[in-house]
Amino acid sequence: MNPEAESTASTQLPRSPLPRHVAIIMDGNGRWAETRGLPRLEGHREGAKSVRDVVRAARRSGLEALTLYAFSAQNWARPSEEVTGLMELLRDYLIDERPEIIENGIQLRAIGDIDRLPALVRAPLDALSTDSAANSDMVLNLALSYGGRESIAAAAQRLAKRVAAGELDPGDLDVEQFGAEMPTAKLPGLDLLIRTSGEQRISNFLLWEAGYAELYFTEVLWPDFRKEALADALEEYQTRERRFGLTGAQIESGDLAP
Ligand code: IPE
Ligand code: IPE
Ligand code: MG
Repeated sequence: MNPEAESTASTQLPRSPLPRHVAIIMDGNGRWAETRGLPRLEGHREGAKSVRDVVRAARRSGLEALTLYAFSAQNWARPSEEVTGLMELLRDYLIDERPEIIENGIQLRAIGDIDRLPALVRAPLDALSTDSAANSDMVLNLALSYGGRESIAAAAQRLAKRVAAGELDPGDLDVEQFGAEMPTAKLPGLDLLIRTSGEQRISNFLLWEAGYAELYFTEVLWPDFRKEALADALEEYQTRERRFGLTGAQIESGDLAP
């Protein structure tokens, strides 16, 4: 380290730890293609390369969980050729990346209405989920046919059934109980939510889970979002002070008792 860098480092505030769980709204594939005069599907194809690069970088950085919004419940309404193309890309990803995912100790999971996916995706998805289930170095969680509202409604439905069956007292239904019913319950809490392509909205992603996540919006389109862009997001996260409703002084003193 040169002396100048050292003095800069020593005057910096202590950095927060790395996020444990990062989620990404991978947006902008269509615009990436359209500005090049290419069909939208070419943008999705290039976006799949970003997925490969970012998953690899996330694993190397030591993240515990990475949730990727790959296809929303609302994306089914896109033109059928685009939906079909996306499903085929997803199948290719699951088949091509299988060896690397297994070798790198990555556990693949999926959230969303998985039953709605075509068999060509379901088969490699189920196989990889099963065969990587014992891996523990990082969870790669794919949100497929996923909607945050849908996932909350489904959780409410399951809980209501338990109440109707007399297994659960409605008075016991608190935030913890409800959270345990969410499909992300086994993952660390969401620390950082990234959205690419300049849009500043959640688009029905992890609505429950994002309650206290740090939000990071970047103009970079998803096909251009590679490991360097992930490093920038992680660096920005580490400058944030997460207060969870407390005062800055409480956080700084480490006195977090209520
Ligand atoms: C994100 O890119 C990928 C999916 C939603 C599947 P888009 O396809 O939404 O790209 P834009 O927003 O049209 O540029
Ligand atoms: C969100 O992007 C869904 C995914 C990235 C899979 P969209 O492009 O579908 O979101 P809107 O339509 O801009 O809100
Ligand atoms: Mg979009």
